[in-house]
Amino acid sequence: MLKYTVVMQTRRAPESNPPETESWGEIQQRAESQLEDLGLGWEDLIGNVLDVGSGESFITKAAREQGIDTEVTSLDIDPRRGEWSPLPGEIRQRSVQADALEMPFADESFDLVVARGSVGFLGIPEAIRVLRPGGELRIYPLSTGVVEQWMMFYYLHEVQGESQEDVMDKMQALSSSYNEELGAYSLEYTALRDEALESLSKDQKLEVIQMVVDTLSDRYGLSLTHIVREPDAREPKAILCYTKPDLFREF
Ligand SMILES: C[S@@+](CC[C@H](N)C(=O)[O-])C[C@H]1O[C@@H](n2cnc3c(N)ncnc32)[C@H](O)[C@@H]1O
Repeated sequence: MLKYTVVMQTRRAPESNPPETESWGEIQQRAESQLEDLGLGWEDLIGNVLDVGSGESFITKAAREQGIDTEVTSLDIDPRRGEWSPLPGEIRQRSVQADALEMPFADESFDLVVARGSVGFLGIPEAIRVLRPGGELRIYPLSTGVVEQWMMFYYLHEVQGESQEDVMDKMQALSSSYNEELGAYSLEYTALRDEALESLSKDQKLEVIQMVVDTLSDRYGLSLTHIVREPDAREPKAILCYTKPDLFREF
């Protein structure tokens, strides 16, 4: 019988937490920490900005409080999110309830689209549709679940020398051990993940991240790049970046 262990990364969007009452100082701090994860600062919020899967909309709220001359839109599928950030009056920050995979915005509406801990790479096509030429997309982290499975695959195949076919079969069995109800993988899965993370060198882990970015670039036909935020961490995390070509400017 399979035994399960709860893992940090689940495949479903986590349930909303109850509303919290933060002071403006705390909101500002949370917003800045989210921007830092995305490799950005306030100075990078230029033009129209979209925060996809914004949760409690800290970036939008803090931008509003600062009165910065940037339109920051928060989008979240959870209807309760909007309630937490009522945006009164004629201000340049707003909150929209919608699915990130089908956004209610016209093509090329935003200069910067960010997604932190929300839809991950699945949101790429829609994000790019609403991005202006020359605009930038940033997603953090680059899918933890996918990266960890590639780490495991790399470890078994490249380091342990198991055949590609055997590893594929093993990974398939382990991945299908995911229990939706518990939000957990089997103990066998997490044991192998831990073994891979302990055994791979920093360079090997960075190589795996590059392989995932290359694969996503092929899949979407885009030149995606990335920035590794914690290259020395046991489980390094990357920001996925994309700049939409601006053909007018390039000629
Ligand atoms: C872990 S929270 C992250 C919130 C915030 N971005 C942050 O960094 O703290 C994930 C958020 O993504 C939202 N979300 C998940 N799937 C979504 C989708 N398809 N469209 C829009 N929002 C989504 C959830 O409702 C949730 O508020």
